[in-house]
Amino acid sequence: MSDLGSKRLQGRVAFISGGLRGIGLACAERFLAEGAEVVLSDLDAADSEVASTTLARLGQAASYISANVAKEEDWERAVATVKERHGAAHVLINNAGIDLTGAVETLSLEGWRRIMSINVDGVFLGTKHFVPLLAASGADVKGGASIINVSSIMGLVGYNEVSAYNASKGAVRLFTKGIAIEFAQKKMPIRANSLHPGFVLTPLLNAGFQRWVDAGFAEKPQDLVDTMAATTPIGRLADPSELASAAFFLASSDSSYMTGAELVIDGGWTAQ
Ligand SMILES: NC(=O)c1ccc[n+]([C@@H]2O[C@H](COP(=O)([O-])OP(=O)(O)OC[C@H]3O[C@@H](n4cnc5c(N)ncnc54)[C@H](O)[C@@H]3O)[C@@H](O)[C@H]2O)c1
Repeated sequence: MSDLGSKRLQGRVAFISGGLRGIGLACAERFLAEGAEVVLSDLDAADSEVASTTLARLGQAASYISANVAKEEDWERAVATVKERHGAAHVLINNAGIDLTGAVETLSLEGWRRIMSINVDGVFLGTKHFVPLLAASGADVKGGASIINVSSIMGLVGYNEVSAYNASKGAVRLFTKGIAIEFAQKKMPIRANSLHPGFVLTPLLNAGFQRWVDAGFAEKPQDLVDTMAATTPIGRLADPSELASAAFFLASSDSSYMTGAELVIDGGWTAQ
């Protein structure tokens, strides 16, 4: 039986970057069902159709900030807004990310720097600017505040023509361990863990599959879904809600003794 909606995040404020789609949106939905107040950020303008309709559907406990994770001034504005709206932050999900595929000798320095600026700088900047508010709020909840950095199975193992994404997600994995040690040694009430999704059916994955189809690797996206499912021991791709369940665990007091760890949600893909 599911404990969805058990309200175990009541009284907690969560900030989720890249929250308008995919895994970030699923986390927002789950956290709201668990009683949290949620602030989402994404690139879309606050008055865009996607942001307006999503926020209207999520209800009054959710709000939105248009912010680019690669820009330091956007993080400064985001933290100030959360402070003003809620006076606290207990959970930070550094979720926004992009992918980049291609043989290493074909990658441009511009493309490399772009993926690093979003996937790595974005996680660093979000952490840096939210730490004071998380530290101030974390003492009020069992297990403290929680930083959840979204890495990937591609941050654990290499994969053909994914080297830049591998590098960015590997950086997220070790950055998370570094800050976890730092917070623990300084007795700051913040835990930090990395989340490692396998193949999850989101707009990011769909766009990636479409690029592979365009490059002639497959006839249609569904062929790639089938191939990925066949190479995954559980035999299917993940639904974003299954990643949100893991994020809920990391956000809640149930993971109070967990910091600097890697939570792998991949249907057994890296166990092979
Ligand atoms: N889908 C998968 O199979 C999968 C697997 C492993 C890891 N991940 C990781 O999970 C995270 C979420 O991925 P997803 O599949 O939900 O992707 P998605 O593209 O469906 O959603 C990501 C969101 O991030 C936003 N975003 C992109 N760049 C941004 C920026 N500079 N500033 C703010 N927001 C930005 C996008 O607009 C989008 O709404 C990413 O870090 C991704 O690398 C995804």
